[in-house]
Amino acid sequence: MENTTDTLKADTPGKLIPDPWEAAYLRFETPEQEIQKFIARLNRLGAPQWPRHAEIVELFCGRGNGLIALERLGFTRIEGVDLSPRLLAQFKGSAKCTLADCRQLPFPDRSKDVLIVQGGLHHLPALPNDLDQTFSEMQRVLRKEGRVMFVEPWCTPFLTFVHFISELPPVRRISSKMDAFATMTHYERRTYEQWLGQPELIKKIARAHFVPVHEHFAWGKWNFVGTPH
Ligand SMILES: C[S@@+](CC[C@H](N)C(=O)[O-])C[C@H]1O[C@@H](n2cnc3c(N)ncnc32)[C@H](O)[C@@H]1O
Repeated sequence: MENTTDTLKADTPGKLIPDPWEAAYLRFETPEQEIQKFIARLNRLGAPQWPRHAEIVELFCGRGNGLIALERLGFTRIEGVDLSPRLLAQFKGSAKCTLADCRQLPFPDRSKDVLIVQGGLHHLPALPNDLDQTFSEMQRVLRKEGRVMFVEPWCTPFLTFVHFISELPPVRRISSKMDAFATMTHYERRTYEQWLGQPELIKKIARAHFVPVHEHFAWGKWNFVGTPH
């Protein structure tokens, strides 16, 4: 397991407990691979049209590689929010990062232009209430002409195939990426399966808060760009 010291948490004074999901997440992709993935995604989903001075927050930002991608694209007013002090501590960029729960955003009403979520919503513990609450908070914080962009796992045939392959022991032995993917899936199974198992409910909640401007499902992902109602 790589980066073990980076993922130790001091839950009990004097005793450090490794977090196995975070350790797998950190070895799934290198920071540079993740940054390049986010840059390509942002370009595909409309970032070139956003003003460079737009106030942008990445929610569930983890170690902040999405924030670095935004910096590299020339955005100047960027913030991140995440619940993990261990992941936030790894961020080395210039964006301001806040330790907070995205179900209660630490921002005033109508204060942000763009809110981004990349792979965070499926970690919410209780659906539909937590999703409804998170989207309500995003709606509250967004300016009238603001944009929401999120990319989350979606149960397409491609995703089912990747899960099947990544669980095979010989594949896990050969590919550390597949092993990391299977490990993450194992530790987030409850929220992940809850998320993948309710696609119609999830789409309905999203549409209750945001008007879709662009939406597509591909390669095991739901890509959504919208404006607040
Ligand atoms: C799969 S990671 C995504 C991180 C980042 N967006 C990325 O793609 O690299 C999910 C993140 O959600 C965070 N998280 C889970 N529940 C949260 C909550 N209620 N509020 C804020 N962050 C949360 C976790 O700490 C973790 O960093």
